[in-house]
Amino acid sequence: MSTRRKKIYEGKGKILFEGPEPGTLIQYFKDDTTAFNSEKKAVLEGKGVINNRISEYFMIRLNTIGIQNHFIRRLNLREQLIRELEIIPLQVVVRNAAAGSLSNRFGLPEGQALPRSIIEFYLKDDKLSNPMVTEEHITAFNWATTQEIDDMMALSLRVNDFLSGAFGAVGINLIDFKLEFGRLWENDFSRVMLADEISPDSCRLWDSQTLEKMDKDRFRRDLGDVIENYTEVARRLGIMKEMPTVIQGGLH
Ligand code: TMP
Ligand code: ASP
Repeated sequence: MSTRRKKIYEGKGKILFEGPEPGTLIQYFKDDTTAFNSEKKAVLEGKGVINNRISEYFMIRLNTIGIQNHFIRRLNLREQLIRELEIIPLQVVVRNAAAGSLSNRFGLPEGQALPRSIIEFYLKDDKLSNPMVTEEHITAFNWATTQEIDDMMALSLRVNDFLSGAFGAVGINLIDFKLEFGRLWENDFSRVMLADEISPDSCRLWDSQTLEKMDKDRFRRDLGDVIENYTEVARRLGIMKEMPTVIQGGLH
């Protein structure tokens, strides 16, 4: 980064800088990768560039089907201009098949289809290891209102339908994914809007034929070829055809 800008927030995988005009921010995608609450860390060269593009791809398409979100436009390889939202401190997980913590909790084999899609809420608090929370906790502690919970659930199911179709069309099963939402304030009123990112860092993606993992579980579980798989996801979606050479050239 060449220009000096005010950093608003730094997370594990992204940095938010002050935007060029009020109500906007710049979202910078890092190569830093963490798992299990930062117990495991690595820098995966080029990851931020790929996630910036994949997230752009989905946010633009979601917007065209009426799911408004924080994305305004991509600025460069690693940055996008976004709307400034008041982030709701929850992670919304949608699951189509058992995997990860759901499989562990209930002893379900990974990949087993669920009778219907399941939505779960987790508190976004690393110090507490993002505990799962119920609607009772969410409303009692004022993390979100009942209306906001309803809105987040409805939006998450629509995102699930869209993403399942988009990935399915390119031979990828969407096992589960995580979304984050924020409030866009207009005078005294706010509405819930999709925020954060949609990328192989926040989804479980399995090749439909081989059931190979193509997402961050490759990093979490030391399966190797993390960037190669993220790049393959982008390639199948028809984006980043130039990616392999860009990575070799080094990215900053
Ligand atoms: P889990 O099975 O570990 O609960 O994860 C469910 C989904 O949410 C999976 O696609 C990974 C994603 N996820 C995140 O993006 N960030 C997180 O902090 C966690 C725990 C999961
Ligand atoms: N929980 C996140 C993940 O595994 C990252 C982290 O906890 O450091 O996706």
